[in-house]
Amino acid sequence: MSFLSVKQLNTEQIEKLFQTASFFKTKEVKPKLDDKIVSLIFFEPSTRTRMSFEVAALRLGVKTHLLNNKLGTSLEKDETLQDTVKNIAAMKPDLLVVRCNDDLDLAEMSKEVDVPILNAGWGTQGHPTQALLDILTVKEQQRGLLNKERILFVGDVKHSRVVSSHLELAPLLGYQIGFCGPEEMLIDSPGVQKFNQLSEGLKWATTVYSLRVQFERYSQKEKENQQLTTANFISHFQLNAQALSSWSKEGLILHPGPVNYGVELAPEIIKDSRNLILKQVEHGVLVRMALIYHFLKEQL
Ligand code: CP
Repeated sequence: MSFLSVKQLNTEQIEKLFQTASFFKTKEVKPKLDDKIVSLIFFEPSTRTRMSFEVAALRLGVKTHLLNNKLGTSLEKDETLQDTVKNIAAMKPDLLVVRCNDDLDLAEMSKEVDVPILNAGWGTQGHPTQALLDILTVKEQQRGLLNKERILFVGDVKHSRVVSSHLELAPLLGYQIGFCGPEEMLIDSPGVQKFNQLSEGLKWATTVYSLRVQFERYSQKEKENQQLTTANFISHFQLNAQALSSWSKEGLILHPGPVNYGVELAPEIIKDSRNLILKQVEHGVLVRMALIYHFLKEQL
C-alpha cells in the first residue's frame, strides 16, 4: 500500500506515528534496515522534504538513491514522468518517495507499480508528511488538547498542497482551520472561517501558518489580476513585527518553507520567540523516519 493522503490513516495510526517519531527523538536507534533501498524521485524542486527524507532514511540505515529534476536524466530526452517512475520501480527498491506536479497522477501510478509510493508533495493535491510534522510541532509545545488549536493559514491558500493535507488532517485530530488573505487567494471549505483582514484573523488564531505566494502555479489570467500584486499582498497580509506586536505571546508561527522573507514574512520574524519554523524542519526528519520505519519494518 502507498501513502498518498492522511485520509488513509485513522487517529490511532496517526498517534502511533507520532509516538514513533517522538521515540526516534529521544532514543538511539539501531533498526536493522540496512538491506533496504529507498528511491527518492523529485520532479519538482525541494530542499526540506528531499534532504529530510534522505536524512531519515540514512538514520535508519536505509540506503537511498536520487533522481533530482530533469537535468542528466532521460526526461531530457522526452521520457514521460510515468515511464520514469515505472522504470525506477522495475529496479525493485523497497520504497519510492515521489514529489511531482499535478501532471502525474500518483494514485494511478500506485496501482501500476508494485513498490509503495510515499507522497513527498503532489501538485496541489497534498503534502501529508508536511501536515503531520506541523502538528507534531504544535503537539510538542504541550499546550493541551489539539481541539483547542485554531490554525490560521495566511496567504496563498488556493495553491497550497499543505492546506489540502491539513483540511484532511484537522477533522481527524480536532483542530480548527481558518484562512486569511485576499479573496483571490482563498478557497471555500466547509467549516473553515475566512478572514480578509489580518487583524481579525489574528484575533481568532492560536497558531498562524504563513504561506508563500506560489506564483509558479498561477495561470496567465491569475498573473494578470492586478489585485494580486506583491506590493498589495505585503501591505495587507505580511506577518511582520507590527502586525504581530499585539498578538498573543503564546501564539505559534509556522511556515512550511521555503520562506520568501520580505514578502509573506518580514525578516524580523526570524528572531520572534514564537517562530517554530526550524522546529518544523527538525520534526520533518522524525516524522519521515517514523513513516519509513512503519513501511519497511513494523506496520502501523
Ligand atoms: N516544505 C517543503 O515541502 O519544502 P521543500 O519544497 O523545500 O521540500
